[in-house]
Amino acid sequence: MINSLVTVPSGILQIPSSVLDPLHFSLIVPTYNESGNIEKIIKILTGILDQQFPDNYELIIVDDDSKDLTWQIAYSLMPEYPHLRVMRRTEEQGLSTAVIRGWQAANGDILGVIDGDLQHPPEVLVNLLLGISQGADLSVASRHVEGGGVSDWSLARRILSRGAQMLGLVILPRVIGRVSDPMSGYFMVRRSSIAQKTLNPLGYKILIEVLGRGDIETIAEVGYTFQERQQGESKVTWRQYQEYIFHLLRLRFSTGRLGRIRRKIDFPFGRFVNFALVGLSGVVIDMGILYLLHGVAHLGLTRSAVLAGELAIINNFLWNDLWTFGDISRAQRSPSQIFKRFSKFNIICLMGLIIKVLILNFFFNFFHLNAYLANFLAILIVTVWNFWLNLKLSWRVTQINK
Ligand code: GDD
Ligand code: MN
Repeated sequence: MINSLVTVPSGILQIPSSVLDPLHFSLIVPTYNESGNIEKIIKILTGILDQQFPDNYELIIVDDDSKDLTWQIAYSLMPEYPHLRVMRRTEEQGLSTAVIRGWQAANGDILGVIDGDLQHPPEVLVNLLLGISQGADLSVASRHVEGGGVSDWSLARRILSRGAQMLGLVILPRVIGRVSDPMSGYFMVRRSSIAQKTLNPLGYKILIEVLGRGDIETIAEVGYTFQERQQGESKVTWRQYQEYIFHLLRLRFSTGRLGRIRRKIDFPFGRFVNFALVGLSGVVIDMGILYLLHGVAHLGLTRSAVLAGELAIINNFLWNDLWTFGDISRAQRSPSQIFKRFSKFNIICLMGLIIKVLILNFFFNFFHLNAYLANFLAILIVTVWNFWLNLKLSWRVTQINK
């Protein structure tokens, strides 16, 4: 077979440091439902790159199995464009991973990305590449430097975009602060700067991941005007904003000084946050049931409290089993295994309750703390205790071969 689709790389998102037959440049075009743009953008990009690097580049379309068959249009153009390659992803989805999967399959020493909807002016490519050839590790097209801008954005959209950037500066100043347009999805980077790094992006903003985890010393910026879309529509929804914030937080806690401290402590913070949230839901249930049984149905206080407590424990167990430790429990799902986990969880929680009362008394009687503050501290300590024991005993990874 002469023409075939590019095999989709799987496993961790890591770019190899070298390839068998290197090329100078690989440009990834991530697409989802861009049938109205794909032919035009391939034509224009090929025109530019044929001049820049004759026979020394590749153009890789990474399409997430678009309903409008973007990948098929690109595929049918391959005979006409010898440097065009097409990847069709059917399992994984999402802009950031599309770009990285494309880079993983790429042969270029320089790896680039451009949107597939012509909102990134193709001619800017030449300036971006110039930045790299002059020594930059990363060359970013920016709306916020000389010569840059947006076309016809409403005030609301400008504020949202700048707000997102400011939030980024607060959460991750040393990454976001390095470029004027950290939201840009139009840039190129040297393979050597990101090879062998385990990338773990979320959502739309792949540049943040490259800046956060890559070895980037010098950066070039090139102004460009973000064009209006002529064909198709944007895929951005509120979900992308939410993912952006989670992405920032994840980078904050896994890179730099905080990341080093965290690795030393070796505490599963992510799981703990889930566990604590589940705990909070348990408090709500406990209070609600107590109110129903004692306040409404006039059952005795102790009896109501015990029932409410137990229902909260069951609630917490179910959410923890499904969510906090879902990855572990999915591999151990026979009824006897579930029952075992539940029994252990129950016992640990009851012990926790006793410890909580002891700690509360200790803080209250010896340190003369305010009763509510003492109670709060006791809850905090017991939550960590509950979490740690359940991690080690209830959701232990037992079925994994050594
Ligand atoms: N493979 C794949 N999978 N491609 C996707 C996906 C996906 O899940 N979602 C979007 N794309 C493609 C689109 O087809 C388009 O080519 C490009 O990614 C950008 O998507 P848009 O939906 O057009 O985003 P935008 O116009 O709001 O652009 C914003 O994000 C860009 C990418 O980070 C702006 O912030 C740009 O500056 C930025 O470059
Ligand atoms: Mn767009």
